Amino acid sequence: MLVAVTREIPDVGLRLLRDFCEVVVWPDKLPPTTAQLIEFAHGADGLLSLLTEPINGPVLDQLPTIRVVSNFAVGYDNIDVASCTERGVAVCTTPDVLTDTTADFAFALLLATARRVVESAASVPLGGWRTWEPLGYLGKDVAGATLGIIGLGRIGAAVVRRAAGFNMRVLYSDDVVRSDAEQELGVERVDFETLIRLSDFVSLHVPLTPDTYHMIGRPQLQSMKSSAVLVNTSRGPVVDNDALADALVNGVIWGAALDVTDPEPLPSDHRLARLSNCIVTPHIASATEATRSKMSEMAAINLISVLSGKQPLRCLNTEVLSDV
Ligand code: DGY
Repeated sequence: MLVAVTREIPDVGLRLLRDFCEVVVWPDKLPPTTAQLIEFAHGADGLLSLLTEPINGPVLDQLPTIRVVSNFAVGYDNIDVASCTERGVAVCTTPDVLTDTTADFAFALLLATARRVVESAASVPLGGWRTWEPLGYLGKDVAGATLGIIGLGRIGAAVVRRAAGFNMRVLYSDDVVRSDAEQELGVERVDFETLIRLSDFVSLHVPLTPDTYHMIGRPQLQSMKSSAVLVNTSRGPVVDNDALADALVNGVIWGAALDVTDPEPLPSDHRLARLSNCIVTPHIASATEATRSKMSEMAAINLISVLSGKQPLRCLNTEVLSDV
């Protein structure tokens, strides 16, 4: 059997795969193009993919031996799951193992933006620290503020747990009432417009789907408080980045922090990368040694399980498993 891995990943997963079958690893730092991927994965039974690789019907038609696509991520908007299902290809992901790490980072971005950590630290090597200034780098208080969580899933809920330590009022606007979360986390459900209007901090935790594409656009930014901060650790296209850049330039909202952008990578001369009231990080919310190792292990176990006829840890289309 042959497995194609589309980038170097932490060793633990590669070792598991190598003990199981022949493994080829895409050697470059940058992802393969679709044409390169098709050539590279030719004849493979399984593909261990990253969120940078679009996997869809036309790609799978060129890779007819693939029986499982195991994504090294919890998000899977790079994969056309319906096309995989139609072709009997199992799709696996790595939820849970990155929840706390990603929530830590979302909260770190929230704090860093509120207290202008990046902007003020960057001024020091440039000679900007000339004295103690009563009016220098004034930020926003986090303790006691209102946090709007858009998407109260695993990661959204983990962010709420962190917010509890800051005595924040937390609003959510999921379509379904989450009585369990309301009890456990003390969150209040309001409609989306109310959440946008009342929150001092808005943190995004939804998957990218046709419904969530540009869910934060010009009208939503206009409805936010002019003192508000937007944090995005979900997927870039959930936010209309042109509208956000205009809003940050014109003081429609106060600040933003983006670990995900549209496009990725964000060009270094993009307006959002140059604004003092916007922090942009290169999609690293899950990037700790321990978590990336767990993702590697889980992606490998998922893949090996499917290829050996066992139940994977997380499969999005279990209906194909009997055919695999
Ligand atoms: C994911 O898993 O979907 C993140 O975006 C990367 O860890």
